[in-house]
Amino acid sequence: MSAPRRYVKIAPSLLSADFADIADQIRMVESGGCDELHLDSMDGVFVPNLTWGMKIVKDLRKLTALPFDCHLMIVQPERYVDAFREAGADIITFHYEATPHQHRLLRHIRSLGAKAGIAINPGTPSALLVDLIEEIDRVLVMSVNPGFGGQTFIDRALVKVAEVRALLNVRNPVAEIEVDGGIGLANLERAVQAGADVLVAGNSVFGSEDPPETLREMRRRIDGLQKQRR
Ligand code: DX5
Ligand code: ZN
Repeated sequence: MSAPRRYVKIAPSLLSADFADIADQIRMVESGGCDELHLDSMDGVFVPNLTWGMKIVKDLRKLTALPFDCHLMIVQPERYVDAFREAGADIITFHYEATPHQHRLLRHIRSLGAKAGIAINPGTPSALLVDLIEEIDRVLVMSVNPGFGGQTFIDRALVKVAEVRALLNVRNPVAEIEVDGGIGLANLERAVQAGADVLVAGNSVFGSEDPPETLREMRRRIDGLQKQRR
């Protein structure tokens, strides 16, 4: 474990936001200094929950210039990546488990001009990424079973983050690792120390009393790790 050398991004997950007041919710997290927005699309098949598709992404695109990190929890994601890109996705992350053609899809996402992300569930070993490494802009390590916000962080994910970082360091050091699920003030430092570059936070931000202040405190904790390193 080591302190981070690079800038660590914070990505609030809109799954925990109040959609009756979404423009205000986005302004609120922007004012706290977040780096991108994490948008979870769920199909009720890959995961036991439903959220939104391209129409909502397109409408939200009008509200902010923050990068959109679209996390597709849908089967056969190849059917939809073009439409998500057109709707305004900057990073398109699909699940390893949701398609047999991960390599083709990573290349296709890059060909659309988006960053290509691949997500792995808690039960999927990091070693399965070995033949995909050069095609990846971002690996999303799930630290809960996907489908719902507000679940408890699975500690084993930290081991997986370190394994993925070791794989990337050799063949694709600029690729990022994103950790998603159960991240908050209690564990974000451990995630960063394990090698995370992007921290997704839903419930811990939108469920807090003062979301902008929670984001600022997250940033202070990350900066604190960097100071320790100097
Ligand atoms: C879960 C989603 C997450 C979720 C995280 O399937 O992929 O992005 O919103 O929410 P928290 O941070 O509340 O665990
Ligand atoms: Zn997510």
